[in-house]
Amino acid sequence: MEEQGKGKIVRIAGPVVTAEGISPRMYDVVLVGDLSLMGEVIKLVGDRSIIQVYEDTSGIRPGEPVSNTGEPLQVQLGPGLLSSIYDGVQRPLPVLMEKEGDFVSRGLTAPGLDPTKKWQFTPKVKRGDELQGGMVIGEVPEGNLVHRVLLPPKVNGRVKSISEGAFTVVEPVGELENGHVLRMMQRWAVRTSRPYTEKLLPDIPLVTGQRVLDTLFPLAKGGTAAIPGGFGTGKTVTSQQLSKWSDAHIVVYVGCGERGNEMTEVLTSFPELEDPKTGKPLMGRTVLIANTSNMPVAAREASVYTGITIAEYYRDMGYDVSLMADSTSRWAEAMREISSRLEEMPGEEGYPAYLASRLSEFYERCGRVKTLSGPTGSISVIGAVSPSGGDFSEPVTQNTLRIVKVFWALDSKLRERRHFPAINWLTSYSLYSPTLEAWYSMNVAEDWSAVRLWAMETLQKESELQEIVQLLGSDALPEQEQLTLEVARMIREIFLQQSAYHPVDTYSPLKRQYEYMRAIRRFFDLAKKAVSLEVPLEKIKSLKCRTELGKLKFEESIDEDLKRMAGQMEREFSELGV
Ligand SMILES: Nc1ncnc2c1ncn2[C@@H]1O[C@H](COP(=O)(O)OP(=O)(O)OP(=O)(O)O)[C@@H](O)[C@H]1O
Ligand SMILES: [Mg+2]
Repeated sequence: MEEQGKGKIVRIAGPVVTAEGISPRMYDVVLVGDLSLMGEVIKLVGDRSIIQVYEDTSGIRPGEPVSNTGEPLQVQLGPGLLSSIYDGVQRPLPVLMEKEGDFVSRGLTAPGLDPTKKWQFTPKVKRGDELQGGMVIGEVPEGNLVHRVLLPPKVNGRVKSISEGAFTVVEPVGELENGHVLRMMQRWAVRTSRPYTEKLLPDIPLVTGQRVLDTLFPLAKGGTAAIPGGFGTGKTVTSQQLSKWSDAHIVVYVGCGERGNEMTEVLTSFPELEDPKTGKPLMGRTVLIANTSNMPVAAREASVYTGITIAEYYRDMGYDVSLMADSTSRWAEAMREISSRLEEMPGEEGYPAYLASRLSEFYERCGRVKTLSGPTGSISVIGAVSPSGGDFSEPVTQNTLRIVKVFWALDSKLRERRHFPAINWLTSYSLYSPTLEAWYSMNVAEDWSAVRLWAMETLQKESELQEIVQLLGSDALPEQEQLTLEVARMIREIFLQQSAYHPVDTYSPLKRQYEYMRAIRRFFDLAKKAVSLEVPLEKIKSLKCRTELGKLKFEESIDEDLKRMAGQMEREFSELGV
């Protein structure tokens, strides 16, 4: 007689396996074949269960056993997530590699959190306290911050006992009167979003230190952004800059099916980086989820859910989290492959009809919220998109654009001109600008918005004038308009271009961004006067302050230099009679 929950394989099609005799629920995790490969039930047809398998299925045969775990795909949440490097189903890659070498063999399991490591637990509640789901029960130092141990969302009750000391994540730290055992670790099903009290307006910027982003196209904490770009335009460099520099407490980096060597680069370079604010290793605030293109597609499909669930967990402690997914196109391609194996009716370009709803469910899980434990926390999501041939009209880019509020369009023409970051200032946008205005004027400068608007208008004007220049040459323009072209060029070359690899230029604080743009604007005002007094433009262009404005972004002394520039510009222009 067959055991309850045991069945056998009847069909195998790549990562999709059909089994009979297990009668699971949708999304139950099952173990497939003699190797016990991990898989997830994604469709039920009569007695047949259709399973997506997270590991390579080659060599598996019909007739091999399948057993149901009776549980959905879950991650382990607790101290020890930071600094971890996981695959798409939260198996720690370094542990797997230690067991098996570089080539991780199949059917291998290892828990997401180390069950033997001890953590110093300090209770924040006491005997007799009445607890509600999501409340903080204690604290543990982890990486660069305090890990707040949370009661799982649906658990309530009065504290019967609680202890202080060093415990593993699985050992009890206390008990509720109703018998619920308190532990540092909880589990959560990755396809279900974690609850919060309410969503708040995203009216604080996520400061990235990247001038084109912060000044022209800002992202809010709790906001959504897409970085679409063709091959080699800078998606990975931009995502990495954001993980290094953005003022989030926690960074979750989902490397989703990009080329193998690119992920290796992330895996080797990240652990060496320093957190610019604390000087501690950057990994101390980072969780890496790595799925290279040689890993099975189903695990890639799961990796974004694993990532966002971990992000929600830290949000629930009251932290600002940013999640980068590089690239969401690889995720969508995984969906497409699985859908085609299921012989579903294909939608546009072969993607399943539910592509749009999957994307929006994912981006829905970000936001700035009041948490169950009280404080606010946020998840900002930045998704890279890699449309083939850089053609933004394809379905993944188009569906993403309908959802996200910030669009940072990478442009291969700019890349060819070596204008980095290659973000097109005419086609990119941020819908958060109006909501963030108040914050910028309170925290940076009252006329921040005016200065920003001036820069945007100058760039817009340049693009209009360029049409004339292409037809008639720049000499056909009046000197005032030639000056606009010159100043727009200054905005582009001095302000918008920013080297990720230069020690000073790689990060620009908001105040500096503002002072820099204001200096360029002051140059423009003075030059405009000079032109009206018939000073030749050539003379203005060759002023020392013009050259220096372009160079000082690379100097350690940049902030003093910017202050000095103000006086210097006035002097040099007054020598021209202004
Ligand atoms: N901000 C920057 N500063 C300096 N160089 C940059 C910057 N952004 C991109 N680059 C240059 O562009 C190259 C390609 O960038 P990147 O690898 O991020 O592209 P990608 O869009 O991720 O490419 P792929 O499509 O292959 O994934 C980098 O190696 C670097 O030389
Ligand atoms: Mg890349």
